[in-house]
This record gives sequence, structure tokens and C-alpha cells, in this order.
Amino acid sequence: MRLLYLGDVVGRPGRRAVVESVPHLLATAEVDLVVANCENSAGGVGVDPRAAGELLKAGVDVLTSGNHIWAKRDIIDYLRDSDVLLRPLNFVPGSPGRGFTVKHSRSGVAVAVINLIGRVFMNNYDDPFRAADAALASLAGRASVVLVDMHAEATSEKVAMGWYLDGRVSAVIGSHTHVQTADERILPEGTAYLTDAGMCGPRDSVIGVKRELVLERFLTQMPARFEVASGPALLQGALIDVDEATGRARSITRVQETIEV
Ligand code: FE2
Repeated sequence: MRLLYLGDVVGRPGRRAVVESVPHLLATAEVDLVVANCENSAGGVGVDPRAAGELLKAGVDVLTSGNHIWAKRDIIDYLRDSDVLLRPLNFVPGSPGRGFTVKHSRSGVAVAVINLIGRVFMNNYDDPFRAADAALASLAGRASVVLVDMHAEATSEKVAMGWYLDGRVSAVIGSHTHVQTADERILPEGTAYLTDAGMCGPRDSVIGVKRELVLERFLTQMPARFEVASGPALLQGALIDVDEATGRARSITRVQETIEV
């Protein structure tokens, strides 16, 4: 079976890139299940029910997120009710929503998606490694195919998670930096790995934000309100082929396209 993972969807240009591309990819690339990180899909920070709905309608099956999940307050009730919008599993116990889910693919395969968040150069979340162990224990026997979104700043923490879960999940894909890395590989025990999938968002920007605003902040160190950039959008992510009988990945291929939006 084939999974499509799409990196952080940033604002309207990112949503447009997904809406324009996913139906086509579903038809032509024989994709069975689509996962997208949506934490910046509404106005560039956070996700709201409208943005989540737009991505799901375009064919995304499971939405992951990260540190910006609470930026739009009306997502909290939506999260409580949804079984396909995830927040990081290792937030403090009792946080609204869920950190993993099982969804059936278009070809009928049960696929588990786990959303973790890192701690290096980030907030003081619970341990993502032990959280992954707990999720896998409670998922035992429910899904042979497991994809992990490791939302983290530090490449080292993401690489470490890849090794920690090698042979125990089908794929560990990193998110959060919005810059795609070129280290995709199949680890020795069969886990597909990529340190960062990149973003679905405006190409001629600084990680999705208008570049002149970011430059102003760097040059003056004065506060500047960030706005999502416009222009052509990148669609970045990865296609992962998995043997559904064993859960081992067969291949991982990066996706990088420019979409006129
Ligand atoms: Fe993030």
C-alpha cells in the first residue's frame, strides 16, 4: 500500500496546493491514505474547523499537528469530537483530543497514525519516546501499518526517534521546520525515515511567512507582525510504499512540486 505524507500546510496557499494536488495524486499515484500536518493551515498559525474541513474534503484522511494546535480556540471542541485530527500525544495528560488514531485506507488496510512532539529547543512536553512505546502497546493487533509524525525542531531528536522506532513502525516522518531534508531512507529493520517533510505553503517566503517581514525582524530586532506570503506554493512531503502484511516499508520518495495557486 502507498501512504502520502504532506508537510506542514501553511495558510491559504498551502491549503490551495493540497486542494489542487491531492485529488490528482489519489487518482494517478495510487495513494491509499493521506496524512497532512495542518497546524499552520489557518492564517499561518493554528488550525480552525474550516481549514481542517477543507483539507479533509480534498482527500486528506488524517490531520496531524504540533505546538500551534491551540492557536485558534474553536479547534478545541472540534478536536474533542474528531477521530482524524490529532494533537501531539505527549502533551500533558488530560489535554483535549487524541494523539493517535486508526483509519482504514482506500484499499481497506488499517493504518495507525501517531503524532509526537519533540522537546529539544521546544516546550517542556512529556517524553515522546515513552509516549511512542505506550501508543504502540495500546495499538497492538489493531494496525500493521503505523506512521509517526515527529514534530520537532532538532534534527538529532528526529533522527533518534527514527532509530528508536526502527522495525516497530512503518514510517517516522519529521515536521515543524518547514524545510525539507534530503535524508530519506529505509532504516535496517524496515522503517521509512525522513527528518523533515518540508511544507505545503508559499515558496518565495521564509518558512511560509512574507520574507520582508522576517527580514525586518532579523535586521531591527523589533517586533513585526507575521503574515503568510503569497505566490506559487510548494507541495512537499513523501510517498511511502509499505508491505501491509509485515508493516515494513519498501520505499520512500520525497515529493516536491511547485503549484500555481
Ligand atoms: Fe510546529
